[in-house]
Amino acid sequence: METVKDLKIPFEREDRCPILLEKCLYLPSHYQGDKHLGHGIWKEAFVKEQPLAVEFCSGNGQWIANVAKSAPHLNWIAVEKDFYRARKVWLRLQRESISNLFVVCGEALSFSQLYLPDHCIEDAWVNFPDPWPKRIHAKHRLIQSPFADELRRVLKPSSTITLVTDDERYSGQMIDVFASWKSSFDPFRFVTELEGYGTSYFHSLWSEKKCTIHFHRFYNA
Ligand SMILES: C[S@@+](CC[C@H](N)C(=O)[O-])C[C@H]1O[C@@H](n2cnc3c(N)ncnc32)[C@H](O)[C@@H]1O
Repeated sequence: METVKDLKIPFEREDRCPILLEKCLYLPSHYQGDKHLGHGIWKEAFVKEQPLAVEFCSGNGQWIANVAKSAPHLNWIAVEKDFYRARKVWLRLQRESISNLFVVCGEALSFSQLYLPDHCIEDAWVNFPDPWPKRIHAKHRLIQSPFADELRRVLKPSSTITLVTDDERYSGQMIDVFASWKSSFDPFRFVTELEGYGTSYFHSLWSEKKCTIHFHRFYNA
């Protein structure tokens, strides 16, 4: 008798490849980049050529969809590794015709390494990246040196990266990782409110619970 384990994914790991759909780039997880679509492939999906802003770890896209509508002078890319959440962002941009928004369903560091040319981003954001609070899981945090080094490569000179978290220890790690960057918020290097920030799903969640939110902005000086 056949069991559920007999039903196999109908393609081999090495056959997986990135796909560009309408306003969406899909990157398979743990993808090594041997079937590359080309740096800046996302450019052709935007109606206008204009400065680029990227949000990494977009979740369901509440923050970026609103911000893209209120900042139409920028092109926005939402990067989210979870397929179902990325699909929500995509649905919203289709339903609301947000022409300056593009979705990447893929891992943040891999997307950047494979698809972002040098010095192409005006403004980068990471809103509530998973904090992985247990020490044993901290190695999974996105905000570590490889990601910061990669941001240095893709950010334009004098552009900014804004990192937002409710997790105090992760906030400390963010400050340590970006310690060599010039900060706008010396000497504390963070503030607990940022005017005009908007709201994300996790921002609403933690604000309702009266948690302290840490905002950090670093300049690529
Ligand atoms: C805590 S949620 C925050 C979502 C959203 N930014 C918000 O504020 O509501 C973190 C999101 O980051 C995504 N994520 C975590 N690590 C990622 C990575 N390395 N690359 C892309 N997305 C990632 C998760 O799938 C999850 O949807």
